[in-house]
Amino acid sequence: MTAAKKIPVEKGLDNSLALMKEGFYFIPNRMKKFNTNIFRTRLLGGQKVICISGAGAGEIFYDNTLFKREGVAPNRIKESLFGQGGVQGLDGAAHRHRKALFMSQMTPDNIKEIRQIAGKQWEIAIEDWQNKDRIELLYEAEKIFCITACQWAGVPLKAKNVMTRTKDLAAMIDAFGAIGPRHWEGRMARNRAEKWIEDIIGKVRSNEMKVEEDKPLHAVAWHRDLNHTLLDVKTVAVEVLNLLRPIVAIGRYVMFGALAMHDFPETREKLKNDKRETYSQMFTQEVRRYYPFGPFLGAIAKKDFEWQGFPIKEDTLVLLDVHGINHSSDLWENPNTFWPERFHEWDGSPFNFVPQGGGDYHDGHRCAGEWITIELMKVSLEFLAKRISYDVPEQDFSYSMSRMPTMPKSRFIMENVRWR
Ligand code: HEM
Repeated sequence: MTAAKKIPVEKGLDNSLALMKEGFYFIPNRMKKFNTNIFRTRLLGGQKVICISGAGAGEIFYDNTLFKREGVAPNRIKESLFGQGGVQGLDGAAHRHRKALFMSQMTPDNIKEIRQIAGKQWEIAIEDWQNKDRIELLYEAEKIFCITACQWAGVPLKAKNVMTRTKDLAAMIDAFGAIGPRHWEGRMARNRAEKWIEDIIGKVRSNEMKVEEDKPLHAVAWHRDLNHTLLDVKTVAVEVLNLLRPIVAIGRYVMFGALAMHDFPETREKLKNDKRETYSQMFTQEVRRYYPFGPFLGAIAKKDFEWQGFPIKEDTLVLLDVHGINHSSDLWENPNTFWPERFHEWDGSPFNFVPQGGGDYHDGHRCAGEWITIELMKVSLEFLAKRISYDVPEQDFSYSMSRMPTMPKSRFIMENVRWR
């Protein structure tokens, strides 16, 4: 029997400060330093953590016999981004059952419907933008997706509340890597949003509010857990927000897509001339690969095992290097070049391209809304490229790689927006 290999160690009692400073590059920097796909360190108040990256890392991370999610998300994340008791922290049969609720909403008809709603909302929005000198694309896209998400899910949203709801859903997303005021804003936003949805669920369950049976809100409100009981109202609110919030998050990808069209103008021309969504599909995939969104994902080892000869002990928190995998030169040719055509030849691996997680949608934690994300990005980016014109004034497009999540400082300002 050969002895297990020694995992390289990034020393220090707690490297959280370095993580905050280096952000998306924290794991990739150390992988480079140790010339490895695995290292050990201490984060989150001195907790032992193993980081994994490169080929084969996704395969083990999404193996349910090796990893679990219960207890992974720190309270800070539950208080702002996720909420308590949602699908993200479930395992085994309970997870499969709850995940089936989400996946049952991702039918081709439902996806077609949300795409149509979003397309219409872009058309409505430009009527307003034509009367303005300038708009900030990130906020406008988030607003469009907030209205779209509510309409699609069956959640009533009055015009006078659109701004508050959009800002709250966006603040929960913006809080995920934050400490201090940004975290607190996310936390207060979550409290308000949960209260909003809890009130709605109360009315739905008491028949005071009618929801069409084919709407996601109906499905979640009346979902029964494995023991056949209805979910408590708070958990329903968390799961409804697990649909609404990430739809608003697509605004960031649309903003990055607009930035890509601006920085690489030939891609905009190709999008304009695209006939059958061949190019817009590749462009969308490349935006999701190239631009930073989630830096890493966490799971806890269920037992002792070896990976590539390295020992991983039961109960260790393991972080999958999402940003590093999407930019690995072992997995991608010229990973730091924005090149949508790379997806022409792509083999569709569920483990090497992980902007929204990997593995299986039903059995694992891969993002339930990946298909919706792709469709809403396509309809939105096609709208920006083909249907309207706008000027892009001088502004600060730079984005920090230590801020998680990140965005161009200017949030993409557009002027003189008009129909083409
Ligand atoms: C900007 C767009 C989005 C990004 C970057 C994103 C990213 C992610 C990531 C990284 C995960 C975790 C995967 C894992 O833990 O292994 C996830 C899970 C999830 N996402 Fe998304 N997502 C997006 C859009 C959506 C949309 C549009 C929906 C629903 C309409 C959605 C619903 C979910 C749900 C329910 C989960 C939990 C799945 C589970 O734990 O089994 N996401 N997403």
